Amino acid sequence: MKATVMITGGAGYIGSHIALLLRRSGYSVVVFDNLSSGNGWAVAKDSLVLGDILDTPFLVEMMKAHQVKTVIHLAAKSNVMESFLQPDDYFVINVQGTRSVLDAAVAADVRQIVFSSSAAVYGDAVCGMVREDSALHPLSPYGQSKLDAERLVVDRCVGCGIGHVIFRYFNVLGGYPSAGIGQCNLASNHLMHKCIQSAHDGSTLSIYGHDYATEDGTAVRDYIHVRDLAALHGCALRHLERGGGSMLVNAGYGRGYSVLAFMRTFQMVTGVAICHRFCPPRQGDPAALVADVGRLRENFDWIPEHAAVEKMIGDSWEWEHSAARQAWISGASQESARETPN
Ligand SMILES: NC(=O)c1ccc[n+]([C@@H]2O[C@H](COP(=O)([O-])OP(=O)(O)OC[C@H]3O[C@@H](n4cnc5c(N)ncnc54)[C@H](O)[C@@H]3O)[C@@H](O)[C@H]2O)c1
Repeated sequence: MKATVMITGGAGYIGSHIALLLRRSGYSVVVFDNLSSGNGWAVAKDSLVLGDILDTPFLVEMMKAHQVKTVIHLAAKSNVMESFLQPDDYFVINVQGTRSVLDAAVAADVRQIVFSSSAAVYGDAVCGMVREDSALHPLSPYGQSKLDAERLVVDRCVGCGIGHVIFRYFNVLGGYPSAGIGQCNLASNHLMHKCIQSAHDGSTLSIYGHDYATEDGTAVRDYIHVRDLAALHGCALRHLERGGGSMLVNAGYGRGYSVLAFMRTFQMVTGVAICHRFCPPRQGDPAALVADVGRLRENFDWIPEHAAVEKMIGDSWEWEHSAARQAWISGASQESARETPN
């Protein structure tokens, strides 16, 4: 058995995929989550510790009790639109919460930290492609909270000699339907979620902004499959365990899809046509955001296996119609936590 890894927010969408992959790779995994947006059934029952990241003493107790040497810190609030309505909550959970995780990690002698940041820290990118040293102008309280948290991670880890990797995730998509996990956020603003909604109820999909300076005028994003992202965290752990240097790195594929191109692929993969209408751009939405992946390629032996956008959409669609998700929707799965996702 490899070292014990604590995943804060590990019962959420991305965290549950990381937890599963790390368990399969032989790590002992502790999922620390308050289930505010995550699901207990999405992780192995014996790995779940119910707790809030703002509770520093309990975090320290759990890290010490499980001899945690690595923390992957994902727990956060992450809805851009909501962050305009509740900026203080975003500051408390995302910034103070990160401070609490760092305080606990230092007290419990954790040696490595991987932090989930977001491409939202960049704001509007002049040419669409962003490098880790590009200008940082978050357009939302959410993006600002992630940037503040990044700075806390760097300061604290450098000061205490803790190895760290900060990932700036781009748009995460897909799921792992055969393992019974995937996106479970009914309030998601994600384009995929909106496409699925329109496909189901025939509603017209609103496209925000159609005269951006992009190829077809609609916003361009870099989509990354959640399973490839999870595998990247495995690479980061190996990197740190080998004594590799701390770094901040974009987590995307380095290529962009416009909203219209995404919708066309959605219709091709699912066979369902959806109607759309153009609306004014939304606050906090950059025109184009695509990862420069030079640093990622240089430092990690990461070979994405699910990068085709058809695969990402297909897996999301399959998850959407899976028995596990239907059970969650009907509430049944909340009582019947499974022993281990397979
Ligand atoms: N999904 C994306 O496209 C995306 C993009 C960029 C960055 N991120 C970042 O990735 C991380 C995970 O995102 P996700 O999409 O899996 O979201 P999610 O909401 O599915 O997962 C977040 C998890 O954190 C838990 N949590 C929230 N507050 C907590 C608290 N105070 N104490 C303990 N647990 C708490 C939730 O219950 C949930 O399980 C977040 O930090 C998010 O900012 C996500």
